[in-house]
Amino acid sequence: MIMESNVPLQPYNSFGIVARAQQLVRIATEADVAALLADPQWAEQRTFVLGGGSNIVLTGDVKPLVLKVEIKGRRLVEETSRAWIVEAGAGENWSETVQWMVENGYPGLENLALIPGTVGGAPVQNIGAYGIELQDRFESLDAIDLETGLSFTLDAAQCAFGYRDSVFKHVAGGPNGFGLAGRALITRVRFRLPKPWKAVVGYLDLERKMEETGNFTPDARDIFDWVCAIRRAKLPDWRVLGNAGSFFKNPTVTPEQCADIIARDPKIVHYPMDDGSIKLAAGWLIDACGWKGKSVGNAGVYERQALVLVNRGGAANPVTGGEVMTLAKAIQTSVYERFGIRLEPEPVVV
Ligand code: EPU
Repeated sequence: MIMESNVPLQPYNSFGIVARAQQLVRIATEADVAALLADPQWAEQRTFVLGGGSNIVLTGDVKPLVLKVEIKGRRLVEETSRAWIVEAGAGENWSETVQWMVENGYPGLENLALIPGTVGGAPVQNIGAYGIELQDRFESLDAIDLETGLSFTLDAAQCAFGYRDSVFKHVAGGPNGFGLAGRALITRVRFRLPKPWKAVVGYLDLERKMEETGNFTPDARDIFDWVCAIRRAKLPDWRVLGNAGSFFKNPTVTPEQCADIIARDPKIVHYPMDDGSIKLAAGWLIDACGWKGKSVGNAGVYERQALVLVNRGGAANPVTGGEVMTLAKAIQTSVYERFGIRLEPEPVVV
């Protein structure tokens, strides 16, 4: 275990924000965590678990000890007549893992292709795209309690998945009474990929791909390729233009609130949910307020998808976390003033 000091975090966050970790340790195995917690110098230290850095906004240097999760490994754990159970280390790159599964005959996560970040970050925010959420393919995960050093396993119910939400985003004693934020270090995640595999192609963009290609019976590889193409066309590559994906969650409203907004803005993009609520496209709301392509300092609103905030200064003159948050607040204010809806940021502000 090597403790590194004053480590630049710019390469480790997808916005490309400049910040430093006062102390950083790379976690390659479960034993590294045990060694760290056994050391009296570090055992009491506050910690911050860093995965792929694709869903964070750094607003300054990180004072807690940064634990950069680099646990690797992918394997088929079990195959039954009903599913493949596949496990991956939390430090594996998410997108490469999805590709590896598709190429090795374990399909089921192809709709989540090309999402930045690591395997360990995926359950934290229950990543979702093109008709699938992580919770739909989740079996269980292993984690270490950083307070007690004990290892534990959680199933889907215990992870309390919600829309871009899980037990890992809440602090204990918070409004929900439960929470593992700042306390759990996820080490391995297992996925349940149902058999027989079925294509999930209900999302409008995928229906368009079927029409375009004339392929109405796509296999997992076709869907993987389509999702990659759709994402490349719509979303900026963080290596070229720093960003943290969707910056706000899509808000839900009651049918009455939605009817009220439709009366004023008939074009609003909205989707009825199973529970009777209506989900609104936050990108549309932001777009309707005229934000697309606008900038505040080096923080900008992406031209092709208003839900994505980007680093316009590149690596040489990068956006600061403060600029990103100033832009985010200005967007929240104008959406609230026009629609009466409070947008909730999706990334974790550090
Ligand atoms: N729209 C606009 N203007 C915009 C952006 C969107 O009018 O600038 C409208 C379009 O009409 C479009 C609709 O909003 O039909 C929805 O847009 P899109 O299909 O791009 O999906 P989204 O709701 O903006 C969500 C996820 C994405 C995920 C896509 C595809 C959230 C917060 N975002 O975006 O997830 O890739 O659906 O499933 O739920 C992420 O979380 O980082 C992320 C990229």
